Amino acid sequence: MKNVTVVHHPLIQHKLTQMRKKGTSTAKFRALLQEISLLLAYEITRDFPLTYESIETPLETMERAPVLEGKKLVLVGIMRAGEGILDGMLQIIPSARVGHVGLYRDPTTLAAVEYYCKLPRQMEGRSAIIVDPMLATGHTAIAAITRVKQSRPKNLKFVCILASRRGIQTVMEEHPDVPIFTAAVDRELDEQGYILPGIGDVGDRMFGTK
Ligand code: URA
Repeated sequence: MKNVTVVHHPLIQHKLTQMRKKGTSTAKFRALLQEISLLLAYEITRDFPLTYESIETPLETMERAPVLEGKKLVLVGIMRAGEGILDGMLQIIPSARVGHVGLYRDPTTLAAVEYYCKLPRQMEGRSAIIVDPMLATGHTAIAAITRVKQSRPKNLKFVCILASRRGIQTVMEEHPDVPIFTAAVDRELDEQGYILPGIGDVGDRMFGTK
């Protein structure tokens, strides 16, 4: 699928299997989500442009020391499960700005309903990455992407841990310009919109709310 990257790194795949197991504890689940997110961040930022500056090492001047170019990256977490990915990514990109979009799924229609949105100022000129562990029906992702696009970031990516085929297709039809990164693509959705074989309800498993 064009514009979709499945990150097949063995460490990520192993950790995802541990997350899927129903016996995995809340604490372990959260730790695994953070670790996978950190590894995904490494992959997703691979194309970030560098610029060069002159610095002083303890020994001499270095004329062309590489540093990231442009304004600071913005990570946008979809509440509430997106928090788990933010925690992991911020470990290796600690200076990133952070935005939040609050969306819930209407249990009957499965449509995404926005209840909160807070983005950093001056989104123009920044790269933005929207994060949500699950890309299921695609409705939430589409709503979040539409919302963040209104702030006119320089470019935009969508990152999840697990996607359904249908969810990817739905998002790509609406936003073909937004690259999607995921650790795996699962078979299908059940009638409640859960991914199969899946991970279960990530918010509940992260926070122990069920
Ligand atoms: N959200 C979840 O937490 N799990 C799914 O399987 C789908 C959406």
